[in-house]
Amino acid sequence: MATAEIKMIGVVGGGQMGSGIAQVAAMHGINVWLLDTDPQALAKATASISASINLLVSKARLSQEQGTDVLGRLRCTSNMEELHSADLIIEAIVESEDIKKTLFVQLDKIAKRSAILASNTSSISITRLASSTSRPHQVIGMHFMNPPPVMKLIEIVRGADTSDETFKATKALSERLGKTVITSQDYSGFIVNRVLMPMINEAFFALYTGVATKEDIDTGMKLGTNHPMGPLELADFIGLDVCLSIMKVLHVGLGDNKYAPCPLLVQYVDAGRLGRKRGIGVYDYT
Ligand code: CAA
Repeated sequence: MATAEIKMIGVVGGGQMGSGIAQVAAMHGINVWLLDTDPQALAKATASISASINLLVSKARLSQEQGTDVLGRLRCTSNMEELHSADLIIEAIVESEDIKKTLFVQLDKIAKRSAILASNTSSISITRLASSTSRPHQVIGMHFMNPPPVMKLIEIVRGADTSDETFKATKALSERLGKTVITSQDYSGFIVNRVLMPMINEAFFALYTGVATKEDIDTGMKLGTNHPMGPLELADFIGLDVCLSIMKVLHVGLGDNKYAPCPLLVQYVDAGRLGRKRGIGVYDYT
């Protein structure tokens, strides 16, 4: 499929990533169906996209008319059948292989034959997700960074059977969305999380073993290496549960003890200290 033929995309999952992806697509002239089975999640997603567009209008980055057009390109639904009109469907649901596979089985039945099925997974094997469908050559990883409207990267992940045609169409679409593309083969953590998560895990070890305070670890990396956020602050931003689950994927997938999750990270997750979304993680946001 050529990118010019991608006129409509479906986004599954109305959370932070799904709503951000839907916003980016609508802002680049693409019609979007945003699907979530939970109407409250859809209401929240719509409110957050509208607020983000209104902010851009208030900063004169978009005219009022452009803002209205963006919102007009976005439709929300809880009915999966609507996704039949999509040329590419990207899922951004919970990071569980079983739940994603179940979704891919459903999408494979509903999506039109030519449609590409993409996953925003941060670490789950694209090859394994693809094998749950009848179209593995049309399944690909399209990993946006958080927050999608701000971050300039899309990491494209080729599964074992992803075709060149699917890759080319996904890359062209990503560039049409104004993003720079990097390409990863389908190995645990891909590129970004393979490098980022061990750094975050190491920051937890530094805190755990009393090397320094959380503030000094973060300031060290912010001012010492020009990162916009320190690793512990970034972990809170991403979600400590997400960081832990990616470390587990690296540990199992790469089979090396250097990827063992830090006990302090495990303990925070056990305690429900999941980061900003819970109001408490490494830092207290209440
Ligand atoms: N949606 C839309 N726009 C947003 C936004 C959002 N959620 N969050 C911030 N922005 C915009 C703001 O409106 C602001 O825009 P202007 O410059 O036009 O005014 C701009 O981004 C900067 O925002 P702020 O001034 O509020 O705050 P900041 O300068 O501290 O930037 C940040 C916030 C962009 C999040 C920055 O701290 C940052 O880049 N942090 C690192 C983020 C990062 O590393 N993300 C990747 C995580 S890893 C990942 O996603 C992969 C994975 O699988 C886990």
